[in-house]
Amino acid sequence: MAYFYCVLGVWIFLLHGHVTGYPKRKTSESEGIRNCTVSPPHLPPTVTNTSERLSALRQLMHTHNITAYIIPTTDAHMSEYIAERDKRLSWMSGFTGSSGTGVVTLQKAALFTDSRYWVQAERQMDCNWELHKSGLITSIGEWILKEVPGGEKIGLDPYLTSIDDWENFNQALQDSNMILTPIEGNLVDQVWGTQRPPPPTSEIYQLPDNFTGSTWQEKVSNILQQMENHAKKPTAVLLSGLEETAWLFNLRGDDIPHTPVFYAYTLLIKGNISLFVDRQRLSEKALQSLTAQCPGSLCVQVESYEHAGAGVTSYAQQDSVRIWIGTEYTTLGLYQSIPQEKLLEENYSPVMITKAAKNSKEQEMLQAAHVRDAVAVIRYLVWLEKNVPTGSVNEVSGAHYVDHLRGEELFCQGPSFETISASGLNAALAHYSPSNTTSRTLSVNEMYLLDSGGQYLDGTTDITRTVHWGEPTPFQKEAYTRVLMGNVDLSRLTFPSKTSGRMVEAIARRALWEVGLNYGHGTGHGIGNFLSVHEWPVGFQTSNIPLEKGMFTSIEPGYYQDGEFGIRLEDVVVVVEAETKHQVSETPYLTFKVVSLVPYDRNLIDVQLLSREQIQYLNSYYETIRKHVGPELKGRQLHEEYSWLQEHTEPFSHAPLMVASLGTLVMSTLASTLLTGA
Ligand SMILES: *[C@@H]1O[C@H](CO)[C@@H](O)[C@H](O)[C@H]1NC(C)=O
Ligand SMILES: *[C@@H]1O[C@H](CO)[C@@H](O)[C@H](O)[C@H]1NC(C)=O
Ligand SMILES: *[C@@H]1O[C@H](CO)[C@@H](O)[C@H](O)[C@H]1NC(C)=O
Ligand SMILES: *[C@@H]1O[C@H](CO)[C@@H](O)[C@H](O)[C@H]1NC(C)=O
Ligand SMILES: *[C@@H]1O[C@H](CO)[C@@H](O)[C@H](O)[C@H]1NC(C)=O
Ligand SMILES: *[C@@H]1O[C@H](CO)[C@@H](O)[C@H](O)[C@H]1NC(C)=O
Repeated sequence: MAYFYCVLGVWIFLLHGHVTGYPKRKTSESEGIRNCTVSPPHLPPTVTNTSERLSALRQLMHTHNITAYIIPTTDAHMSEYIAERDKRLSWMSGFTGSSGTGVVTLQKAALFTDSRYWVQAERQMDCNWELHKSGLITSIGEWILKEVPGGEKIGLDPYLTSIDDWENFNQALQDSNMILTPIEGNLVDQVWGTQRPPPPTSEIYQLPDNFTGSTWQEKVSNILQQMENHAKKPTAVLLSGLEETAWLFNLRGDDIPHTPVFYAYTLLIKGNISLFVDRQRLSEKALQSLTAQCPGSLCVQVESYEHAGAGVTSYAQQDSVRIWIGTEYTTLGLYQSIPQEKLLEENYSPVMITKAAKNSKEQEMLQAAHVRDAVAVIRYLVWLEKNVPTGSVNEVSGAHYVDHLRGEELFCQGPSFETISASGLNAALAHYSPSNTTSRTLSVNEMYLLDSGGQYLDGTTDITRTVHWGEPTPFQKEAYTRVLMGNVDLSRLTFPSKTSGRMVEAIARRALWEVGLNYGHGTGHGIGNFLSVHEWPVGFQTSNIPLEKGMFTSIEPGYYQDGEFGIRLEDVVVVVEAETKHQVSETPYLTFKVVSLVPYDRNLIDVQLLSREQIQYLNSYYETIRKHVGPELKGRQLHEEYSWLQEHTEPFSHAPLMVASLGTLVMSTLASTLLTGA
C-alpha cells in the first residue's frame, strides 16, 4: 500500500495538492464542503457539531492552566493505524483522516494536515475548526506562537507524543516564552467520557506452533543473548510497539482494525520477563504457554497493562540497571520515566531489528501466503474482465468482491488494510478508498487501480495492479510501462549487503524521471508474518535499516495524473543472495526475489520501451508465476483462471523494429541507451 514520507513525525505528500485533481466534480464538491464565510455558515450533513466538546475541553485547559492543547493521531504505542478508542482527534474535530494534528486554544481550534485530506476535512469539520494546509511541526509551532503569544503553557499528552515530536515542538517554540508541558491524563478522554469506546475484551490467542518461525522461548533467549553481547551491557529491553510484543510471544489479538495486535508492553529483564496486558483476555493456552516454566528463567510475569508505566519507573530506580529502548516506538512519557544514565537508546529495539530479517520458516510461510493471495487476485481480475463491460461493477462492490475472494483462501483472516479500489480520476489520489458517495462505476474506458492485501495466519500480503480493459491513450501506456520499468529495474538490482534502501530507491524512479514524471510517495515498506502490512523499519526511506538477506519489502512505484488516472504497480519481494560473476566481497551480494505472483496488464505495456534485460526479467518472472500459481489453479479446478493465467504470462518479445513507429523507435533506443548506461 502506498505510504507517505515521514518527516518530523508527520506524513507529508511530496507533490502538490491532489485536491486540484477534481475539476470535473467541482459543483458537487462545493455543495459537499462547508462554507464558513456565509452567514449562517453552510454545513453539509457530514460535519460534526463540536461546540460542546470544545467548550468542555477548554474548561479542563483552564483547570490545568494551559492556553493550548495538542491532539495527535497516534496511540500510546506509536501505532500507524489506531483503534476507535484512540481516535481522539477524530472525535474532537469530526475529521476522520488518519494523519493530522489538532491544536485547541482557548479561542480557536486548528487542524493541520497534508493535501491528501484537505477536501475530507472541509466535508467533516464545522466552523469551530480552522484548516491549515500543512502537517509540519514547524507550521504548527508558528501558528501557536501567533495565537498564544506570551509566556504560556502548551499542554500535550506525554503518552501520545514521540520523543522526536517532543524535540521538534520544543525546537519550534524555542526563543519564545512558551513552555511545552506534559499533562498526565488525556484531556480529550476526560471530555469523551463514557461515550469513548471501551478497552477491547476480545481474546488474545497463541499462534499455533506450526505458524511461527520459532518458539517464544527461542526468541526471548536470542534477545537476552543480544543484551549479553552488547558493549553497553543493558539489563533490560523495553518494548512499546504492539508488533514487538505480538511477535516475541507468538501471540495475536484484534485491537486494531486489519492488524492482529493487542495492547501490551514488555519489559524483558534477565530472570524476570514482564508482559503488561489485560490478563483476562489471554486464552487459556496462551497463559499456559507463558507460565509453563514458572518459576524459572523463561517464566513470564503477566502484569496489568495499566501498571506498565509504574513497573518501568520502579525498575529504573534500581541500581546499576540500563534499559534498552527503540526511540521510534517509545513515548515521551515512558522515556522520561527513565533517568538518562540508565537508558540505552537506539532507533529500534533489538526485537524490531531481529524481526525484520525473517528466518527460513517465516520466509517459506510468507511466500506460501502470496501464492494463495495471487489466486484470489487472479480470480478477481478474471471476474472483472467479464463484468466490467456490462457496467455492473463499481469501486465499492468490486472491493467487497475481492475481499470476499480472499476470504475464501486458506488461513485468511480478512484484509490487511482497507481495500483501495479506484477507477479513473479517483486513482489519482494515492490513498483513496471508495465510499458510497465517491464510488465510480468501473468502465472499459477508464484505468482501474486495485491495491489490496490479506491477513493470513502464515503471512500478510499487499499487492497493487492497474488495468485497462479498453483503449488506453498512448500517454497512459507510456506512463504504465515506465512505472513497470521502475518496478523491474529495482527488483532485478544486485547490490552489496547492508546497502540502505534509500540509496537505491531512485532506481525505481529512473524510467519516470527520464521523461519528467515522478510519484509523491515512498517506494516500499516491510511486511509481516500475520502482522502489520507496513512493517518498519524495512523499506526505502532514510529512516529504514540497511537491506539484509531475509527481509521482505514492497516495491511500488506509481504515477498519478491529477483529475485523470492513477497507476501503481506493487509487488512484495524478499532479499536473497545474488549470483555475481566475481566474488571478491566476504559477504555475498544481494538481490530481490518477487513473491507477489500476478501478471501485469499487457494491454498497458508498450514493449518497445522495454530493454532486452527488462524483457528477459519479465519473462522469467512470468515463468515463476506459471510454476507456482498454475498448479494451484489447476488443482482447484479453476480452469478459466488457469487459461487466463497462461494467456497473460505469454513471453514478451520485441516486435520487429520495422513496424515500430519512428517515435517509439527513437524512444526505445534512447531508453535502452540510458538503461544500459552507455
Ligand atoms: C462561500 O460562499 C460564498 C458566497 O456564496 C462564495 O463567494 C465563496 O466562494 C464560498 N466559499 C467556498 C469555500 O465555497
Ligand atoms: C451546535 O450545538 C450547540 C449546542 O450543543 C448549539 O447551540 C449550536 O447551535 C449548534 N451549532 C450548529 C451550527 O448547529
Ligand atoms: C499559570 O501559568 C502562568 C505561567 O505560564 C503562571 O504565571 C501562573 O501563575 C499560573 N497560574 C496558576 C493558577 O497556576
Ligand atoms: C498447522 O497445523 C494445522 C492443524 O494440524 C494445519 O491445519 C495447518 O495446515 C498447519 N499449518 C501449516 C502452515 O502447515
Ligand atoms: C519482575 O518485574 C516486575 C515489573 O518490573 C515487578 O513488578 C516484579 O516484582 C518483578 N519480579 C521479580 C521476582 O523480581
Ligand atoms: C452503501 O450502499 C450500499 C448499497 O446500496 C448499502 O448497503 C450500504 O449500507 C451503504 N453504505 C453506507 C456506509 O452508506
